[in-house]
Amino acid sequence: MSDKSLYERLGGYDGISEFANNLLPRLQADDQLGRFWKNRGEDGIDREKQLLIDFLCANAGGPVYYTGRDMKLSHKGMEISESDWEVFFGHAGATMETLAVPQQECDDIVAFVSGLKEDIVESK
Ligand code: HEM
Repeated sequence: MSDKSLYERLGGYDGISEFANNLLPRLQADDQLGRFWKNRGEDGIDREKQLLIDFLCANAGGPVYYTGRDMKLSHKGMEISESDWEVFFGHAGATMETLAVPQQECDDIVAFVSGLKEDIVESK
């Protein structure tokens, strides 16, 4: 294990932005998940992507202040299911593979995101 923060190990702000830039279009293009982004304005989607980047940077130990809402509040009412969650994880894995994120960092991302499940998934 390295002493460096996950933020540093992921390549800092640029590395995490690249992660979000790679992941979001996959989610939007997915047959099952696409509904969550359907008919939303481009600027709203850009704003949400910025918040995702800030959230990840801040939680990975970066010098960023997250100004968005917490995970429970921001996903409440979307009825994100267990199956949606699995599909999401498949895309996150594909993004990590495409960006050649090393195994330790993949494990750290998976552990962090898994801990958010209870706040995000609300229907079976
Ligand atoms: C199946 C999984 C997920 C789906 C379908 C999903 C979908 C969405 C959608 C549609 C929004 C926009 C809400 C709005 O504009 O009001 C949103 C916001 C957000 N999501 Fe997710 N999300 C998922 C998982 C995650 C995960 C795992 C994270 C964190 C790693 C995350 C972080 C965020 C953040 C930071 C916001 C912005 C919060 C704010 O507007 O204040 N989401 N999500």
